[in-house]
Amino acid sequence: LPILALWGVIGYVLGSIPGGIVMARVMGLGDLRQIGSGNIGATNVLRTGSKTAAAATLLFDAGKGIIAVLLARYAAGEDAAQLAGLMAFLGHCFPIWLKFKGGKGVATFLGVLLALSFWVGALVCFSWLIAAAILRISSAGALAAAATSTVWALMLGRSDMVVLTLVLTGLVFWTHRANIERLRAGTEPKIGQKT
Ligand code: G3P
Repeated sequence: LPILALWGVIGYVLGSIPGGIVMARVMGLGDLRQIGSGNIGATNVLRTGSKTAAAATLLFDAGKGIIAVLLARYAAGEDAAQLAGLMAFLGHCFPIWLKFKGGKGVATFLGVLLALSFWVGALVCFSWLIAAAILRISSAGALAAAATSTVWALMLGRSDMVVLTLVLTGLVFWTHRANIERLRAGTEPKIGQKT
């Protein structure tokens, strides 16, 4: 058990490094909190106008989830890998260094799933792409992708991932509660739209 807890802590610390804030600082893009939705994720970084910074943020925030899972799996096995992935997601959304005001967790969610099961993760990414391509709204893509994740895990015979996909889906809906309000009101901006 102490080993599992250790990987939970490592996952949380890795997850809590905010790719968007790092990229915004490195590329001099200003304060993400003052732009668009105020979120620190790739979707909001794109609202600065920099596609490169947005792509780098997506890769950074997915990458830390991938690294957390792979390190924990290598050192301590599959249970540790799942816990490290969950904690990386929680670290991104509720980082201690940002007074627990982090991001919405979509990129990290995708990275964690890809690392736990490449095909489950790939189908969830594909679901995001299809929904986002049709609706042109990032949050709607994320909600659709999250909602399909449990279905893909079951269809691919990864019932061991189902508790995790259900918990992560619930958390993604929670972190998107303001987006859900805007989607309901019809005021959620399209991808790349400044406000
Ligand atoms: O799922 C994308 C989500 O992170 C939305 O970001 O900035 O539109 O609230 P934002």
